[in-house]
Amino acid sequence: RGLLAGGVALAAGAAAYGVLGARPSVNLARATGFPRLQMPPLLDTSESGRFDVTAQFGTTSFIGGRATPTIGFNQPYLGPVVRVQKGPLQPKVANALSWPVSSHWHGLLVPGEHDGGPHLPIGPGSDWTPDMQIDQPPCTAFFHTHIHGRTAQDVYAGLAGVIHIVDGHDAERGLPETYGTDDLTLVIQDRRFAGDGRLAYANSMMDIMHGMTGDTILVNGQIGTAAHVPTGIVRLRIVNASNARIYSLRLSDSRPMHLIATDGGYLARPIALETLRMGPGERAEILVDFTSGHDVSLVSDGDPNQGMGGMIGRARGMLDGLTGARRFEVLPILVDERLPVAVDKIPDTIGGKAPSLADFEIAKTRRFSLDMGMGGDMMGGGMMGGFAINGDPFEMAVVNQRVRLGDTEKWVVSATMLAHPFHVHGVSFQVVRENGRDPLPESSGWKDTVVIDGETELLMRFTQPAGDRTPFMYHCHILEHEDGGMMGQFTVA
Ligand code: C2O
Ligand code: CU
Ligand code: CU
Repeated sequence: RGLLAGGVALAAGAAAYGVLGARPSVNLARATGFPRLQMPPLLDTSESGRFDVTAQFGTTSFIGGRATPTIGFNQPYLGPVVRVQKGPLQPKVANALSWPVSSHWHGLLVPGEHDGGPHLPIGPGSDWTPDMQIDQPPCTAFFHTHIHGRTAQDVYAGLAGVIHIVDGHDAERGLPETYGTDDLTLVIQDRRFAGDGRLAYANSMMDIMHGMTGDTILVNGQIGTAAHVPTGIVRLRIVNASNARIYSLRLSDSRPMHLIATDGGYLARPIALETLRMGPGERAEILVDFTSGHDVSLVSDGDPNQGMGGMIGRARGMLDGLTGARRFEVLPILVDERLPVAVDKIPDTIGGKAPSLADFEIAKTRRFSLDMGMGGDMMGGGMMGGFAINGDPFEMAVVNQRVRLGDTEKWVVSATMLAHPFHVHGVSFQVVRENGRDPLPESSGWKDTVVIDGETELLMRFTQPAGDRTPFMYHCHILEHEDGGMMGQFTVA
């Protein structure tokens, strides 16, 4: 059994339990003492409004004894959690790598000139010091490099971190807020390793066409760990920082996940979910009740885009029960009675503002179709080709859309062939319809990224300016699709 293989490997100092298809290993984790999941280092800027991050080379031992070359912000792989409050924010992002990187603030509502997209490269040996103002509700955001054509490989190698926007009122909301104890940050990724321990990347056409997925799950850059939580209510801030994998998260004993926040901030009240769909780039915060004292495992159903569930499965109208739809484990979560309990009940309300853009006049409706070329370049060996939006592959010098500052617009986004997580810079949007129905509960709050599988209608109000030199992006957050051209850009003026 996959479970046993995991245990044996772990005993030998090399865990493999994240391998797809393995059974949840909570009992094993408790019996054999899996290493405890570590949180990213916390960089608290709430007093100074300043922080420094450096993109750097590193070596990470993901799998016992084998050294994997990686990159990260301030550390060998991934980066810190940056805690940010309303007010001035002055990061200094330095680049100690030997190629250009950028630092896109995914989820921050800041003008195009501070957005850190492909037009704001930081050369090797240089730094970037945007002078920003943060004024948006509390949320979990993230940051990552965004250089056109190499975002996918550089994020895969580790260049991403997390941002918590906080306002100091979580105790009043009845929410857990002790970092690493009852407020856990989980950066979920999947990776594939070569025999020598190196990260394997994009070895086949499928890795580009469907996006790069792996067979091993990493949480906060760690394999084979277990989270430890108190016997109370625990908050999980989940970031899907995978290149391409769409998760359908659930808890192994089917206890509810109480969704409290989506990409852009809190919901008005918790929503109890059995499954939580998360595409790359999406964030969700859930509360889980551990007052019973029972361990649980965070698991996921398979990715509808992968295996037989991918294009072939879709073409035949088969999505479930195929190789891509296999359930696998993400993280065992063990109750530790010695940890302090701060919150012992799920709050009835959280007080976030439900999106209500329907009251605004819609200045314009735009349509976007996320296209995958099935011929020409792509099949002919041009690896990064064949992806486009409305037939146009991304071009650095072309502004595709011009939006008026302050306008509210409806964007109708459609995807066939595969599901694509669509992301828009510089706004929080509201999902109003998904395939003619009300949005999934996990799409009901403020969002900046949402999985499009058919046709989805979004409402968004543009409050941040972006000019021709540093326009905002909209793109598929399957990073291979983005790099391959499934991206466009827009100004807001
Ligand atoms: Cu998280 Cu344009 O990206
Ligand atoms: Cu973004
Ligand atoms: Cu895509």
